[in-house]
Amino acid sequence: MIRIRLKQPMIPYSKQAITEEDEIAVNNAIVSPLITQGPKVVEFEKAICEMHGCEDAVACSSGSSALILAYAGCGINESSIGIVPSITFASTANALRHLGAKVVFCDVDHESGLIDLQSLEESLQSVRKTTNFKNGVITPVSLAGRVAPLKEIRKLADQFEMMVVEDASHSPLAWSDEDGVNVRSCSCEWTEFATLSFHPVKHVCCGEGGAVLAKNKDLASLPRRLSTHGIEKNTDPNRPWMYEQLDLGWNFRLTEIQASLGISQLSRLKSGIIERKKLAANYHRALSDYPFKDFIGLPDIGDGHSLHLYVVRFLEPLMRDKAYHFLKSKGIASQVHYIPVYKHPYYKNQYGEIEMEGAEKYFESCLSLPLYPGLAEADQSKVIHALSSFLEEQKR
Ligand SMILES: Cc1ncc(COP(=O)(O)O)c(C=O)c1O
Repeated sequence: MIRIRLKQPMIPYSKQAITEEDEIAVNNAIVSPLITQGPKVVEFEKAICEMHGCEDAVACSSGSSALILAYAGCGINESSIGIVPSITFASTANALRHLGAKVVFCDVDHESGLIDLQSLEESLQSVRKTTNFKNGVITPVSLAGRVAPLKEIRKLADQFEMMVVEDASHSPLAWSDEDGVNVRSCSCEWTEFATLSFHPVKHVCCGEGGAVLAKNKDLASLPRRLSTHGIEKNTDPNRPWMYEQLDLGWNFRLTEIQASLGISQLSRLKSGIIERKKLAANYHRALSDYPFKDFIGLPDIGDGHSLHLYVVRFLEPLMRDKAYHFLKSKGIASQVHYIPVYKHPYYKNQYGEIEMEGAEKYFESCLSLPLYPGLAEADQSKVIHALSSFLEEQKR
């Protein structure tokens, strides 16, 4: 008899959690009369607003299209600039380029990866001196689930007459205490817009999907129209079939099927974050001790962190890549979030060589360990054990 050894599947760094309720919601949506532009998208948008405390939300096809729509809602165009932290997913910057704006990269804190306020202020000053831009936007990214310093950023934005879009792809329901003030990600209290992504590795999964969250309904109206070709319907009460295209928009719509999955997933957002917190606490407990603490810096996971990612930092040069390969050899996937965006060939071609101290240091040291609702205790122990073996090996 031939024995086949089944390979153990890799432990992913993240993945979607799909329940029976999700399946029922999707199945119901597929057989409903409207599978796009129906009531489920409206219901999803309402639920997003209620949960995050913003006034309006526009569901759309991805986090990237949400960024394009939010920037367009700020009036960003070829004569605009957008300031983004260097550590983020490229689409935070790409969306600005899609509208023809110039991207200005700014440095980050080397431990948290969040936008560095001093670097932001310097960027604002130099942009004001050297660029003849008409309007601009700052895009703080609430990286890994930790809220960027939105209150301070609002102050700077007002001083330099900029708009603010929070890229909240990682941080639904996250909050922070900024100088004794409760600052909530996605609430749009400190920003014109916030954007969410519903990619499968995010807190809420729609397959693909995103949303623009807006400070008020007026601000939301342009992104809403642009998400559906720039078309306004029902512009003439005597001709119900009438519609007019007012702007040049896109088809960035979310389907009823995706929205139904989103509604079902959203109902588990809070419990998912609680589970992520428990898993993060397990990592914290295990990695605070021998042999980890001389080699690894742990993330600051205060109460308001919504733990999209659990990112550790390797304190010695080159150790991160070795750890990545070691974990992979043990069937564990980890990931680097992120390569500084200015390092991508597209941006090098646009803006030349850039190197920022905080971003480089963060990039060289960071590694996201597996974290997602449904990560089995045994699998998490395997990750911790593998990391421990790796570090023991390094000491020899
Ligand atoms: C910080 C950040 N911004 C934007 C995006 C883009 O979202 P999507 O993949 O839904 O287009 C992502 C997704 O990876 C992200 O992590």
